[in-house]
Amino acid sequence: MERDKVTVRHVTKRTGSAPRLAMITAYDFYSARFADRAGVDLILVGDSLGSFMLGYPGTVPVTMEEMIHHCRAVTRAAPAALVVGDLPFGSYQASTRDAVANAVRLVKEGGCEAVKLEGGAERTEAIAAIAAAGIPVMGHVGLEPQSEHRYGGYRVQGRTADAAERVLRDGIAVADAGCFAVVIEAVPRRVAEEVTRRVPVATIGIGAGPGCDGQVLVYHEVVGMHTGQVPRYVRQYAAVGEQITVAVTRYCNEVRGGQFPAREHCYLMEQSELERFRERAGERTGVPPAPAHEPLPAAPPADAEH
Ligand code: KIV
Repeated sequence: MERDKVTVRHVTKRTGSAPRLAMITAYDFYSARFADRAGVDLILVGDSLGSFMLGYPGTVPVTMEEMIHHCRAVTRAAPAALVVGDLPFGSYQASTRDAVANAVRLVKEGGCEAVKLEGGAERTEAIAAIAAAGIPVMGHVGLEPQSEHRYGGYRVQGRTADAAERVLRDGIAVADAGCFAVVIEAVPRRVAEEVTRRVPVATIGIGAGPGCDGQVLVYHEVVGMHTGQVPRYVRQYAAVGEQITVAVTRYCNEVRGGQFPAREHCYLMEQSELERFRERAGERTGVPPAPAHEPLPAAPPADAEH
């Protein structure tokens, strides 16, 4: 069923009011199609694709070219959801000029409608410049996965008053700089609640409790299409990975046992053409035709196919 296109205006307008915003990552054509048809408000082409599509140990190695490649696939499949593309590590930290140029690429070449970047007060110049170029920007505070080496791994943020104040300060800074929404990742729920009350744009939580204006999760974790543990904040709604393994195992067994392909999976041809072909093949090679595996109908109709 067709639904209205989600725009940045919808996201901004829904700040502080139910229903909350539902956002999920997607990295390819079909995950985006399923997400869009399921009715998500926003799709994030997250740089988490490094882990979930490319097998990298984290987000740090992801390049602009990889982001653009996946953004293109997603934007071709998602007519209704607002598609946000992540600016990968190294694409906006060195200079504001880089930040604007790469944000433009995600929109122009990737087809995204907004971009997301990580960081707080130190990113306001880049955010303001991208917004001034006409590109909606989503902030990302709390745990910033691109800075994993600074934290020594992925760690919950904002667990002390000082650290929580830093999350608040960052949230306000990026909103004031021009972000239309901000992701808050891996902070205590009460901190996210307070930040949400005080930040003038929509907050979208991941591992930040129910007090945000919206939630975002990683597609592969939501549908259970990966191996290994999921973070504490994830709820898995399906076990697609297990289903895939069962399906592919059956396929292998049926190929090996000769049960696949069956008659209904085969292309057919007219009996008369088949006879002519067999005759010619025999003449050309001297090899007698294969015995018929399937009994022919007793009285085949004139145009019967085999
Ligand atoms: O890349 C990503 O998937 C993200 C989410 C964790 C918000 O940034």
